[in-house]
Amino acid sequence: MEFTTLKSEASLHHLGIESGDPRILAEFYAKTMQMKMISSDNGTWHCLGPNRLLVFLKGKGQRLSFAAFACRDEQSLDQIKSRVDKEGLDWKPFKSPFLKDGAFSVLDPDDHTISFGVPIKIKQQNDSLYAPLQHLTLQSLDLEKFIDFYENKLGFAVSDRVINSDGELTTCFLRSNREHHSLACFKSQRVGMDHHSYEVGDWNLIKDWCDHFSNLGVKLFWGPGRHGPGNNLFTFIQDCDGNKLEISAELEIVTDRKPVDWPHEARTLNLWGDALMRS
Ligand SMILES: [Fe+2]
Repeated sequence: MEFTTLKSEASLHHLGIESGDPRILAEFYAKTMQMKMISSDNGTWHCLGPNRLLVFLKGKGQRLSFAAFACRDEQSLDQIKSRVDKEGLDWKPFKSPFLKDGAFSVLDPDDHTISFGVPIKIKQQNDSLYAPLQHLTLQSLDLEKFIDFYENKLGFAVSDRVINSDGELTTCFLRSNREHHSLACFKSQRVGMDHHSYEVGDWNLIKDWCDHFSNLGVKLFWGPGRHGPGNNLFTFIQDCDGNKLEISAELEIVTDRKPVDWPHEARTLNLWGDALMRS
């Protein structure tokens, strides 16, 4: 198996999220995630913070417009593009003010737009709490197709899987660098975005973020807890559209190990307590 995306050390760079009112959603992130909001064309808003970047577009609420992965250089981007060509996937140029020319996108089996590009260096404010955007989790009816696309076609690597008592795959975690997952997917009755996550690294920063949320009157939605796969500490909030955001710490760094299959049970999702089961 050729792990092209993993070899390129790609990382989740920014997300496009649709909303009925992108300005209100951008205001939420500007305040809650300490980002600077900038108006763009067609009612689109950009929110920028240190190592976190979100684009809010007019559309259907809670819908992922695109996920953009950053490659470390043009050479690694070209390697992914060659792989995409070799696999016979259709790709389109992807225009973004945050990526250099040459970025491109493909559609995954659930019609999610996934793009790859080399980021343009942007000056970012550094006076806010640390929380780089780190992973995206989706929901799908068919995880076998999901893994086939991301692992067999794009060259992400499966880190861990969750399997139910009938032997069905219910969750998969894929990495595009040494972090346990930059992309994950839950089997669900719906297709779309489950949550996006910011990796703060240190437990104390989860506390600082929780205090910050409390000062704004934003209640925790789930956690704190510790996931089994990835072993990361977590807490979740919801934005004003109902999108779920995770603040994570201590995510496993995978160097060289085989994927582990975990049982589909609450403890796998949260070693400390109650779980938010998707199926
Ligand atoms: Fe997560």
